[in-house]
Amino acid sequence: MLSNINALEELPCQIARGRRTEKIGDHQSNRARCPESHGFISSCPIRIARRLVRLVCEPDHMPVLRSNVTFGGGRRLNSIDIANASSANGTSGCRSIRNGEGMTGSSVAKQLVDAIIANLPEPAPGLRPVHTMGVGVDGYFMASDVARNYCIAEHFRGHRVEVSVRFSNGFGGPKQHDGWSDVRGMATRFHLQGGVKDGPATDLIATTLGEFFARNVEDFFEFTKIARQHPVQRESPWRKILDMLQLKEPVRDPYPKETTNTDAGALSYANRYRFAQLAVFEAAQIGAPVSYTRATYHAIHTFMVEDPHGVRRPVRFSWQPVAGVRTTDPTATPVDKYLRHELEERLRRWPARFMLMMTIGEAGDALDDPTKPWSARRVRVVMGTLTLTNLAKDQVADGERISFNPWRLVPGIEPSGDPILHARRCAYEVSREMRGGCPFIRSQADAK
Ligand code: HEM
Repeated sequence: MLSNINALEELPCQIARGRRTEKIGDHQSNRARCPESHGFISSCPIRIARRLVRLVCEPDHMPVLRSNVTFGGGRRLNSIDIANASSANGTSGCRSIRNGEGMTGSSVAKQLVDAIIANLPEPAPGLRPVHTMGVGVDGYFMASDVARNYCIAEHFRGHRVEVSVRFSNGFGGPKQHDGWSDVRGMATRFHLQGGVKDGPATDLIATTLGEFFARNVEDFFEFTKIARQHPVQRESPWRKILDMLQLKEPVRDPYPKETTNTDAGALSYANRYRFAQLAVFEAAQIGAPVSYTRATYHAIHTFMVEDPHGVRRPVRFSWQPVAGVRTTDPTATPVDKYLRHELEERLRRWPARFMLMMTIGEAGDALDDPTKPWSARRVRVVMGTLTLTNLAKDQVADGERISFNPWRLVPGIEPSGDPILHARRCAYEVSREMRGGCPFIRSQADAK
């Protein structure tokens, strides 16, 4: 899919100059994370190249554990804030922060959503502009014994918490292509205070990508300008061999019925902006999971969590599938629709489980930059287990109209200063309004 990432050619020199000595981390695509299931060949030039990209992108080693620090500069925002913003049936919360927060207000949010829509292969009015095709699932979360020592948030206290999960394909548009290589989403709502679906809640939104391709809103707009839909064509076998010999990723063959995609544009963007290379390269390698429950999902941004002693720590969350990671055979003809049926059948037989992992940042780790991974040597804590029991009965309410927001937080968890995280708050509200999604507190009429 990708070819000619210019910077790859410089990498050996940088390493030879001793610029990077750190061990390669585990923030790789699902396929790379599970070498046993995918015939990992350590000498494969593509994998070497990807590791090289990672070596250069990874921040320098920072060994000192830091705690009780203040980040982000933002005030604590919790579910009540979001409820207030949404109960006015609009983006009032977004309007209130428009002045003084520059690229996070509702007008910028509208531009962000419009920029996404402008680049869709096919319009999808009334649906999400990205992660359009998805499925709602019911389940529950049980915090681990140690979770409450690290975070005072309600869902980490140890009692059973009902959850609604929406799994999705990353593509925007009404066509379903489960078997295509694509980033997948897992948005989780923890229903607090008794588990009432319309009551107080907190969300955790994650994707199979370990890092993002933009550091801020300006980068994101630039990406949408460069990574536009282009016609796709098959590359000759000789060209592929040549690419591999040059440590370039050969362009993958178009899928049946695939006429355009954004791969060439994403590649140009990655060629121009080094910070985007890790995410773009990972996305190109990501493949298709055999099941929504057999992928690792990352919340990407840094959040601040507070422990019972008032100590605040920077953390990143991810979901690890208990069944392990597995992707489909990339050489087989992709199947368009299987993920929903697979999930339904799987849950009919047995519940599916994920472990919620919390990685604790250390001094010098990138807190406000979602393009930068943290070292694989950071402490990781198991915060709990998610058990998925069945597909949601009402897919309209719990799959389509449900609206997640990464700012739907509770006391004990705060956003970092990450500009992308800040921009998402209003962008998701704008999108929710445009498609008629549910506000945070659903009225009786909405719930029907
Ligand atoms: C500036 C950056 C971003 C923009 C503008 C953006 C925009 C959007 C929009 C408009 C939606 C549809 C929301 C709705 O209608 O309910 C959405 C959904 C989603 N986004 Fe983002 N996004 C951004 C970054 C991210 C990042 C960093 C992640 C990784 C965690 C992510 C993961 C998702 C997922 C999983 C969904 C589907 C949620 C669902 O199932 O409802 N997005 N995004």
